[in-house]
Amino acid sequence: MNYKIAVLAGDGIGPEIVEQAIKVMNAIGKKFNHTFEFSAAPVGATAIDQTGNPYPDETHALCMNSDAVLFGAIGDPKYDNDPKAKVRPEQGLLAMRKKLGLYANIRPVTTFPSLIHKSPLRADLVEGADFVVIRELTGGIYFGEPRGRSEDQEKAYDTCTYTKDEVRRITKLGFEYAAKRDKRLTVVDKANVLATSRLWRETVQEMVPDYKEIEVDFMFVDNAAMQIIQWPKKFDVMVTENMFGDILSDEASVITGSLGLLPSASVGIHTSVFEPIHGSYPQAAGKNIANPIATILSAAMLMELSLNLTEEAKAIRDAVDNAMDAGIVTEDITEEKAYSTSEVGEWIADNI
Ligand code: IPM
Ligand code: MG
Repeated sequence: MNYKIAVLAGDGIGPEIVEQAIKVMNAIGKKFNHTFEFSAAPVGATAIDQTGNPYPDETHALCMNSDAVLFGAIGDPKYDNDPKAKVRPEQGLLAMRKKLGLYANIRPVTTFPSLIHKSPLRADLVEGADFVVIRELTGGIYFGEPRGRSEDQEKAYDTCTYTKDEVRRITKLGFEYAAKRDKRLTVVDKANVLATSRLWRETVQEMVPDYKEIEVDFMFVDNAAMQIIQWPKKFDVMVTENMFGDILSDEASVITGSLGLLPSASVGIHTSVFEPIHGSYPQAAGKNIANPIATILSAAMLMELSLNLTEEAKAIRDAVDNAMDAGIVTEDITEEKAYSTSEVGEWIADNI
């Protein structure tokens, strides 16, 4: 088969890690007789520099006309300490999510036995932890109106809104993931304080009878933040609103000790987007030292979720495991000989 893949490499280490995922996808193409047609387009700070817009219309059109989007990272330090910047790279990410209707961000939190010692938690707490955070991605306080500043500039406000329909579609996905896994769903909210959270709880409770085989529990977000570090193994599928999911998914990923290995998928109405969770890591940009594995594993998720190529996805994951077993890894995850970004990418592609 022939597949069209939009490549949005973005900023920082984005281009060099995405290049490795492309090598790996091409190796899969060779082995399994597919062609992947890659088309690149700018996003983030790179796109602002080139066009003034962090998510240009041409980039959006390319995404809409592709089977999947392979995404690197966005963000540039020159914007971080400039709260008055008129256009920000992050706006590109939010615009992309909204325009592609990417209402769900899926982050599998898995541990790699060889990296447990990198976890900030005791090994016995985190060994075997395996859960999925499903974050709502196009609603809540990230997008609610009104937002802004008062006329005298002394007050600022954001608005958190959710509709029952928004809650239903993401919760449905949560139930479906739980059904394929250990059949446990944790819904995280702040229903003791927020009206939107009470709407979530009510909506999920209405859905519970349709999914009798799934065990559902509700947890306040502050408690969830504690439980993730006290007892990460208790979770199977966690579903939550946009901002809670932003915070908890970072917390959840860091406890594995393998931040550089974790992929993610954003799915919804139009083309899905696959990206590593680690961000643009500007200090390493251009140095050929960044870990490409999270992006390579994002390509595996892409194969599975957007192209329905299960065997191909497994071939990528197996090759990544082989690289780790053989010690062909970047400096962030070894005290021994480290390999460069491109060497790791090449090795994995060859292994396939
Ligand atoms: C993420 C990031 C983004 C978010 C930023 C860069 C806007 O933190 O994808 O989790 O807050 O959603
Ligand atoms: Mg985040």
